[in-house]
Amino acid sequence: MPGSLILFGDSITQASFSECGFGAHLSNVFARRLDVLNRGFSGYNTRWAKTYLNEIFPICQSTTTELVIIFFGANDASLLDQNPRQHVPVNEYGQNLLDICQHVKDRHTNSHILLVAPPPIDHAKRLAFQKQRYKEQATGVLERTNEGAGLYAAKCVEVALAAQYPVLDLWTLMQKEKDWSSFLSDGLHLTAEGNRFVGHALVNIINKTFSNLAVIPDKLNGAFHNSGSSSNFAKFLPWHDEIDEKSYSEYQQLMNGGGHSGGHSGGHSVGHSGGEVEQSEGVERKEDSSSSSSSSSSSSSSSSSSSSSSSTSSTSTSRTVVTPWDAKAGDEGFDYMKLINDYGSQPINDELLARFEKVTQHQPHEWLRRGIFFSHRDLHLILDAHEKGEKFYLYTGRGPSSESLHMGHLIPFRFTKWLQDVFDCPLVIQLTDDEKFLWKDLGLAECHRLAFENAKDIIACGFKPDKTFIFSDLDYYSEMYTTILEIEKRVTFNQVKGIFGFNGSSSIGKVAFPAVQAAPSFSRSFQIPLKGNSNMRCLIPCAIDQDPYFRMTRDVAPRMKLCKATKKKGCYKPALLHSVFFPALQGPNSKMSSSNKNSAIFVTDTKKEIKNKVNKHAFSGGQDTMELQREHGANLIVDTSYQWLRFFLPDDDKLKEIGNAYSTGAMLTGEVKKILIDVLQEITAGHQQARAKVSDDMVHEFMSVRPLNF
Ligand code: TYM
Repeated sequence: MPGSLILFGDSITQASFSECGFGAHLSNVFARRLDVLNRGFSGYNTRWAKTYLNEIFPICQSTTTELVIIFFGANDASLLDQNPRQHVPVNEYGQNLLDICQHVKDRHTNSHILLVAPPPIDHAKRLAFQKQRYKEQATGVLERTNEGAGLYAAKCVEVALAAQYPVLDLWTLMQKEKDWSSFLSDGLHLTAEGNRFVGHALVNIINKTFSNLAVIPDKLNGAFHNSGSSSNFAKFLPWHDEIDEKSYSEYQQLMNGGGHSGGHSGGHSVGHSGGEVEQSEGVERKEDSSSSSSSSSSSSSSSSSSSSSSSTSSTSTSRTVVTPWDAKAGDEGFDYMKLINDYGSQPINDELLARFEKVTQHQPHEWLRRGIFFSHRDLHLILDAHEKGEKFYLYTGRGPSSESLHMGHLIPFRFTKWLQDVFDCPLVIQLTDDEKFLWKDLGLAECHRLAFENAKDIIACGFKPDKTFIFSDLDYYSEMYTTILEIEKRVTFNQVKGIFGFNGSSSIGKVAFPAVQAAPSFSRSFQIPLKGNSNMRCLIPCAIDQDPYFRMTRDVAPRMKLCKATKKKGCYKPALLHSVFFPALQGPNSKMSSSNKNSAIFVTDTKKEIKNKVNKHAFSGGQDTMELQREHGANLIVDTSYQWLRFFLPDDDKLKEIGNAYSTGAMLTGEVKKILIDVLQEITAGHQQARAKVSDDMVHEFMSVRPLNF
């Protein structure tokens, strides 16, 4: 599907598909390359536009928007004494424009932004229009003046230049034309000629400023949308004269499902989703049991069912469901690239890792090198801050719903410990006993007790005692309450409904909870531990399932007050590092679950339990018989033992050796399982020893509200 170009403005934009309209012109120029959407709101000034931003650019928007053109000011520039309803003071207008741009940037992360300053006002035509419309009641006094519009145009240009957005100054540009009055019908809105002028000016500036979007028309007939036109930008489907027998039959095959690889071997074929973003379903429902079955040796199908609210990301053939409370893979496993697209996060690429190494003087962790932490938000800003010697803090957490952690839970904690060592920075760890009380069938006291127990496992990961503050929400809530309220005030029910899928039967506790998980992202929540630092950057490592909380958090951040004492607004957005899911023993299509003991290895498991579980339940990508395995080798993608080694075998060379031997048939499943068992037994034994040394007093110390050392 083509991406989009959004026109956002007032009545001038709303009418931009009328005769010779500039919107229609853009639609013609970008036909089959971009869908031009009209988001013009007649009569709106920037204040009203800002109020409805969440409706116009909702949180779960696509990353396929290429350009948003923001065209306001004609109504803001109404004179205060003549039209106080629409008038917006010029400085507020400038700030509103910036806020609108920021909102658009947050929602449409790949999109360019172009500002358009209001056109001039023709006084004589304006008064004539007034007379025609109000007859005897016409006041004969202008409610907008050309000088006034000029001030707003200048402000638009000023803020655009300061914030480095390109801008089209219509007020100045039009008045350079001798006959500019002919551009305006009622002295304010555009005639067909005026529309034509704006359309051409827009295409000019787009071509000049965003060369990747430029469309060069066919030299012969000037058409923008045939095979003689050209653009760096992909067209939607082939031009008719590019369709020959071969491409047509290939296309048919693809549509009939025969064109892609994939087969039984767990390839990555994904349905033709066309990059569309599916909004959250907004339903609270029981998930169907998810089961993975295979004919491979030593497989066992898993089946788990859970109750969850879900916002979903789906492809047309398979369905990946990822919420903070449930994660279910599609037919082809979790489609992480699609999650990046849908969530609008950034992939972690080699360039970023090289910068990480340069700035920290540490080789990136193997989980970064192996793509296990695969996505981020604003990591480069954290690196910039570190480079400048600015302090930041780490924040992660655990929902204490069971006595002990499984290996999947260890991923963010072990990784966070590594980050703490690399950056030598303070860390806060939230134990959401309140969340588990609200979502699980557990009493409050039990959740609180589990938080304390889980804290021991977390401490056993080796965090620095003088730099780490662990807190239970039940204990620490009052310290965060003002921050929670600030967040709650700025997030609507519609927003959390859209992000988390709440509905009318969701408890109000659940609806309010996201603000509690958001609050630790702001240093103002830690007056004592972070020593009164009211705006410190924050980096959150977690699996991708927690991202919905932090999308919401990042959305409110610029509107947050820095601390209780000041009215100054604008907290840093938390940065994030997202990991993939450590798969269940039963294979890549499921997430580990504390309630299914055979889906996971727990840090409390004995050596014998580990051996039994791996031998009995670890899904094998190997062949059915030894002969076949020797001949064809194993499918590493679906093989649990190999995949788990990718997480827990730090030695790159050894991992590579195993991968080569196993995938070519030189190794058998049993041999790889044996290696995995040894690795897991060593890790859990080490963890159990470390945990045995964690006394209650140590937990109290980690959980005491005290200034951290940084
Ligand atoms: P919880 O207890 O479900 O999970 C704790 C952490 O473990 C991650 N995780 C996994 N990572 C990899 N593979 C898996 N199979 C797997 N299962 C869970 C989770 O993403 C999480 O990072 N609401 C949260 C607690 C929380 C939190 C936070 C988490 C509060 N504040 C800030 C991360 C960051 C929860 O219930 O996590």
